[in-house]
Amino acid sequence: MNDLKFKNLGNTKTIISSIGLGTGTGFKEIDRKRDSQLIYVLQKALGLGVNFIDTAEVYFQGHAEELVGKAFKNNRNNVFIATKFLPEHSSYKEVLKACEGSLKRLQTDYIDLYQIHWPNPVIPFEETLKALETLVKSGKVKYIGVCNFSLSLLKNIQKVSKLPIVSLQTEYNLLERSAETDLLPYCERNKITNIAYTPLNSGNILKAQKNSKIFSNLSKKYNKTVSQIILNFLIFHPSVVAIPATTNITHLEENAKSTEFVMEKKDVHLLVKTFATKLIYIDTAKIKVTTIDNHAAYKTVEEALENKLDFFPSPKMLSEDIHKGDFLKPVRVRAIQKKENNFEYELLGGRIRYWAWVIAFNGKKPVPSIIEE
Ligand SMILES: NC(=O)c1ccc[n+]([C@@H]2O[C@H](COP(=O)([O-])OP(=O)(O)OC[C@H]3O[C@@H](n4cnc5c(N)ncnc54)[C@H](OP(=O)(O)O)[C@@H]3O)[C@@H](O)[C@H]2O)c1
Repeated sequence: MNDLKFKNLGNTKTIISSIGLGTGTGFKEIDRKRDSQLIYVLQKALGLGVNFIDTAEVYFQGHAEELVGKAFKNNRNNVFIATKFLPEHSSYKEVLKACEGSLKRLQTDYIDLYQIHWPNPVIPFEETLKALETLVKSGKVKYIGVCNFSLSLLKNIQKVSKLPIVSLQTEYNLLERSAETDLLPYCERNKITNIAYTPLNSGNILKAQKNSKIFSNLSKKYNKTVSQIILNFLIFHPSVVAIPATTNITHLEENAKSTEFVMEKKDVHLLVKTFATKLIYIDTAKIKVTTIDNHAAYKTVEEALENKLDFFPSPKMLSEDIHKGDFLKPVRVRAIQKKENNFEYELLGGRIRYWAWVIAFNGKKPVPSIIEE
């Protein structure tokens, strides 16, 4: 067995596949016929050795969890199910309620990994953790983890948690490598699993790099596809497992097999160098914000402060964290071909972080950004 195929979860003896399956993309309800295809994808994953399924109460209003439940109701003990509760559900009572909802949709009496989907700046960690302890004591949850935590928040929650925090889920892909500066080394030292989300940059990197020389050379050398090279690069890091989302069987097979080779160090370094995160600080007034990938976004700071879309944490709440010196990761932008008014860039990712930054510094401080092509 190749040693990249499975990894220990945190400091535990539980083994999970290094390539999991994300259900936050594509697992939406369209019609019943498609449901059976999606259930087939989930079951096929397990057949391919992908035993780690990541879902959340919020994905498609619970539909993703329902599909996971249907897929594994007769095979529960062979699969590792990770789900998440919303930050709005972080109070003692709400965590317990959210968990009951997930258990019902998942048709199971336990969740392997229960994750805080996003930090809640209002409710103290102690309260959320008390609920998680209750759930672990009753056997409804095996392990707990966090998502979208900065290093300082991770350390803070660890200080007050009686239970080990076994995992940290964070965005990590070839074009978003901020985690390498602090989170990955810390997790590696402290035996915390890094669950890399959006590992294929939502598929965009595959389109953008279709004709790139570096990938065609590496693909030829290892006889692997571009997505296999990219996923292999991520799980090459000892603490990292990745959860690409797919509803396509060919892609699923391809992703599952990305564990079956080890790249030479010089090729890994070539990728590190070629895709070095180029962080620049851009005047916030030069960035245009519109709808991003069909997700609504605020166009003005007044709208962001009003928070009519009910984002949680709101831009204002996040701005307070930024003031305290806590900033999760840079925003992603693309240069606009023809300048419009003052705008030189458009925002591709970080629609709440962007406004939080503007609010925190009254629009006067350039925001850390990564420029994508
Ligand atoms: N904790 C959080 O806050 C958070 C946030 C975002 C995501 N997540 C988790 O991370 C998972 C993955 O992230 P993501 O869905 O944002 O992005 P992703 O996994 O980077 O990309 C998914 C896209 O890539 C395509 N794809 C997958 N494998 C492929 C392959 N071998 N060749 C070509 N295209 C391929 C998929 O299309 P096809 O279906 O056509 O293959 C899909 O459109 C989510 O599903 C979710 O579970 C967590």
